[in-house]
Amino acid sequence: MKFFIDTADVSEIREGLSLGLVDGVTTNPSLVAKTGRGFREVLTEICEIVDGPISAEVVSTDVEGMLKEARDVANLHPNIVVKIPMIEAGMQAVRVLATEGIRTNVTLIFSPTQALIAAKAGASYVSPFVGRLDDISHVGLELVEQIDTIYQNYAYETEIIVASIRNPLHVLEAALVGADISTIPLKVMKQLMKHSLTDVGLKKFLQDWEKVPKA
Ligand code: E4P
Repeated sequence: MKFFIDTADVSEIREGLSLGLVDGVTTNPSLVAKTGRGFREVLTEICEIVDGPISAEVVSTDVEGMLKEARDVANLHPNIVVKIPMIEAGMQAVRVLATEGIRTNVTLIFSPTQALIAAKAGASYVSPFVGRLDDISHVGLELVEQIDTIYQNYAYETEIIVASIRNPLHVLEAALVGADISTIPLKVMKQLMKHSLTDVGLKKFLQDWEKVPKA
């Protein structure tokens, strides 16, 4: 499973890269706003340091506006993937962008039929938001399983990015389902490596090593 990092914060991306855990990046308007920096400035820097797909989201809600933003941002770097919201106008835009060879990531996916429509439109990626579903007592990972089944039934090439990940269990479940990609906040990436028994075990090994005669 590929790991994308879900942030627009360049220092977090650098840290994820140093851990070898960044195969790509997903951003959204809220994550960019959190950096306090300009959209193009942040994206340009991310493109300089990451060699992988980098999702950048449009904020227009009409087809022409989305197409204009998409072409503009896609021009920044070949690694840019244009993030398009799952609305009717968005699906029209995805269809046009696919014919132009511009890759898209359809975001805010909360149902399997939305994912089916996105694949039919020619989306390169879909982003089901598991954490936000869990927040309202729907099992987010069931959505990923259903999308995976549909895509296998019809051999769609659209890749599934498990998004809105809140904890290590989400990543484990995504891997067990066989999702293509998880987009993960840095904090959760670090949690994935931790285990209290590892810490206790290492402490004991190092204590015992002190008892070994130093010749
Ligand atoms: C995905 O591409 C989104 O950027 C992100 O995963 C949303 O996560 P949130 O629900 O924690 O805002």
